[in-house]
Amino acid sequence: MGRATKDGKLEINVINIRDFSKDKHKKCDDYTFGGGPGMLMMPQPIYDAFLSIPGYEKAYKIYVSPKGKVFNQEMSKQMAKGYEHIIILCGHYEGVDQRILDLLIDEEISIGDYVLTGGELPAMVMVDAISRHINGVLHSEESASIESFENGLLEYPQYTKPREFMGLSVPDVLISGDHKKVDMWRLEQAKKLTRQRRPDLMNIDED
Ligand SMILES: C[S@@+](CC[C@H](N)C(=O)[O-])C[C@H]1O[C@@H](n2cnc3c(N)ncnc32)[C@H](O)[C@@H]1O
Repeated sequence: MGRATKDGKLEINVINIRDFSKDKHKKCDDYTFGGGPGMLMMPQPIYDAFLSIPGYEKAYKIYVSPKGKVFNQEMSKQMAKGYEHIIILCGHYEGVDQRILDLLIDEEISIGDYVLTGGELPAMVMVDAISRHINGVLHSEESASIESFENGLLEYPQYTKPREFMGLSVPDVLISGDHKKVDMWRLEQAKKLTRQRRPDLMNIDED
């Protein structure tokens, strides 16, 4: 991603919401109305932070949240192809005031069914996964097209040198030079692995 940024394929800006607080101590959180544990991010600094972003109205605005739709490879691809400009809002504490979501956010996205302390890691996970689908970001476009989740399958096992390691050998087919057989072996292995670990990814009529 560093290389892609340098080459101008990708631009990433980080905005510190605290810089937009009008409080003299730069406070950004307060107690929740109705009571309950924890603090909530106040709307004003977040709202002003959004307004400071050139073209924010047209950008696709995401709030990373455990309450969102769970992120996956297909979504990362759609976002890379579908949006020129994405803004990701990271929550902290108990999250953000609902009015920010109502006023500004297009979609809430979760990176999995667990709760993290803040949205920074989810945002970084998403930026990494989305960037891989932008032309010129990966060295080899082919490597993205054969990875796990493409065609609803997990990736097949892979081997490199040496041919023997700690008594384990590289499968003969991979050094046979027969590309058709190699492709067949890889497809079989990918299906076997997916059936074992993630049958939910496979089509029902898959054999
Ligand atoms: C401690 S969490 C808040 C959890 C919130 N009170 C709830 O129960 O849904 C603080 C922030 O971390 C981020 N976060 C935590 N877990 C996440 C997840 N699984 N996916 C995306 N963002 C997450 C969100 O931005 C959230 O506002």
